[in-house]
Amino acid sequence: MKLTSKSVALIPIIATVATAVVGATLISPPVANAATTLSAAAQQSGRYFGTAVAANKLGDSTYVGILNREFDMVTAENEMKMDATEPNQNQFSYGNADRIVNHARNQGKRVRGHALAWHSQQPGWMQNMSGTALRNAMLNHVTQVATYYRGKIYAWDVVNEAFADGSSGGRRDSNLQRTGNDWIEAAFRAARAADPGAKLCYNDYNTDDWSHAKTQAVYRMVQDFKSRGVPIDCVGLQSHFNPQSPVPSNYQTTLQNFANLGVDVQITELDIEGSGSSQAQNYQRVTQACLAVARCTGITVWGIRDTDSWRASGTPLLFDGSGNKKAAYNSTLDALNAGGGPGPTTTTTTTTTTTSNGPGPGGCTATVSLNQWNEGFVATIKVTAGSSALSGWTVTTTLSNATVTGSWSANRSGNSGTVNWTNVDYNAAVPAGGSTEFGFQGSGNGSGLNPSCAAR
Ligand code: XIL
Repeated sequence: MKLTSKSVALIPIIATVATAVVGATLISPPVANAATTLSAAAQQSGRYFGTAVAANKLGDSTYVGILNREFDMVTAENEMKMDATEPNQNQFSYGNADRIVNHARNQGKRVRGHALAWHSQQPGWMQNMSGTALRNAMLNHVTQVATYYRGKIYAWDVVNEAFADGSSGGRRDSNLQRTGNDWIEAAFRAARAADPGAKLCYNDYNTDDWSHAKTQAVYRMVQDFKSRGVPIDCVGLQSHFNPQSPVPSNYQTTLQNFANLGVDVQITELDIEGSGSSQAQNYQRVTQACLAVARCTGITVWGIRDTDSWRASGTPLLFDGSGNKKAAYNSTLDALNAGGGPGPTTTTTTTTTTTSNGPGPGGCTATVSLNQWNEGFVATIKVTAGSSALSGWTVTTTLSNATVTGSWSANRSGNSGTVNWTNVDYNAAVPAGGSTEFGFQGSGNGSGLNPSCAAR
């Protein structure tokens, strides 16, 4: 089995070498410059390659070694779910989630948040709720968790698995669904208000085959949300495959059709049961499908080694139990290196810091941390008092090529050009040497904000 998969994996390389030799004698084959990790290979087309991570494995050096080397996006496998983050009503618990988020961010990796609202893995107190009490508890959960992680999450799975399997084309019955059909859009609106910089995704499984009723139903919901201005930025396809639920032949069509609605598409929980060359080919097909769709922004596999998988007996991942690369790893890497159609509009995250009005007596300093992506940005501005306490402050920013679309923790004079920001009641007083923050979201380019601060 091993020999077969190795020789199959080698065929494309041999073919490439042969073509290069015939076509241009002295030019090295493209494979010589190929990236050697999944994330580096994905980055060549502006995409990411991620994995699900379990907090209790962060002490396993083999696991962490592969994580740090191969992946540039991280999803908490269980630690951000409702039962983990709100074990008792209104008592939030972020220890394990923070371990994952901090590890990722310290390593320069981004984080997908999973998941704010779901019928499954609810805390006991929520399972027994219904009606308005449940609706409010759900919205409070979305608001609290998204606010806690504001600015740290690339994309949130706001709602997970809300549609029914089979031919009904309807919603899944659940306590959340019974609070009213608008529970999904209510969750999205709450998430947008809490973290305007995060992409907001609807995530589900069995939505890979374009002809399935469930796929069509999710498509119609996204279309409806876009037409009514309900905030939604992306659709996540979990993509858990096995012989009973294989990679459909129209998978790329599905990705493209969702993208055509004006949302990003992400493959969020990929695993494919099997082994050897057939598994390798399936991984290659999925990867190629994403690369062929400009708005397919990245792929996340649901675990690192086969033994880490929630479906370990199906050996569905890219590394074996000892951490060795499988044939599926090689085919995925090769597909990423081969590239595809045009990549997504690149998302860049930059942090710039500007200092002005040096902190003399009575003065203050304003610094900006900017999270810029192609179409917009979130700016977080820190106001630091000098050697005297402040009883109020004004920050002036310049938005030459940008418009403010939302802001928090400050009053503002306008939304473009020279914009003045003044404290609100609760952050007027800043002790000597202390600081406070406010922020805003904008469309366009947020560079050159050049904040200056004055005491008032
Ligand atoms: C799974 C985890 O991998 C398991 O550890 C846990 O016991 C159950 O949930 N769809 C999802 C994921 O959105 O959150 C699920 O993760 C797999 C299916």
